[in-house]
Amino acid sequence: MGRSLGRFAACFTVERADADELGKRAITFAVSDADPGAPHLIITRLTELPRSFERLALASEREGFEFVRRLELEWRSGSNRFDQPGELLLGVLLGGELEAIGGLNRDPYLSDPGVGRVRHLFVAPERRNGGVGSGLVRAIMAASFPHFRRVRLRTANPRSNEFYERLGFKKLAADPTATHAYPE
Ligand SMILES: CC(C)(COP(=O)(O)OP(=O)(O)OC[C@H]1O[C@@H](n2cnc3c(N)ncnc32)[C@H](O)[C@@H]1OP(=O)(O)O)[C@@H](O)C(=O)NCCC(=O)NCCS
Repeated sequence: MGRSLGRFAACFTVERADADELGKRAITFAVSDADPGAPHLIITRLTELPRSFERLALASEREGFEFVRRLELEWRSGSNRFDQPGELLLGVLLGGELEAIGGLNRDPYLSDPGVGRVRHLFVAPERRNGGVGSGLVRAIMAASFPHFRRVRLRTANPRSNEFYERLGFKKLAADPTATHAYPE
């Protein structure tokens, strides 16, 4: 395990942070308390896969996760470029290198266009436990609010359950297509 990053250092600016319901929900997920002493992480929208994507994909395969490579294949084939209304793919960069990735799609398991889905969240093993994963989910959620009234996801293991529940997601009972949703 590499050294801890401390608190997530990226800032996400919430637009329309006014008193309406959209603003309040966005603020709940805004990344805050940036630590000026922490490494300079940049969170950015990816419109192409950076060269260092391959390092992240290899790391995920070493751990037995296949979804980062699947993201790449779907991106290259054009079947999912996170470019439909409300969708986006975010990356976390440190010194220009991709350290984490996570996307927001319209939930493909539902016909409701108002429901999004967090997908393909992966943090480089040596960057974990420093708030990068939660910062990335917060940024995805803040970006989701103008477009999706609800966001669902499916977790892979019990440790990720805690991770998402700490961020405010609620566990869904017996839904084969999702394990968590925000709001419930
Ligand atoms: C889950 C994951 C994105 C968390 O990223 P992170 O930057 O370490 O997250 P944060 O530092 O913000 O939060 C740490 C919390 O994440 C969770 N976590 C840490 N390692 C984890 C792992 N290997 N698997 C699942 N959850 C993990 C824990 O709840 C941890 O809290 P703890 O320190 O109290 O145990 C990251 O561990 C990862 O990429 N895991 C492999 C891929 C994966 O499981 N993706 C999610 C698929 S649903």
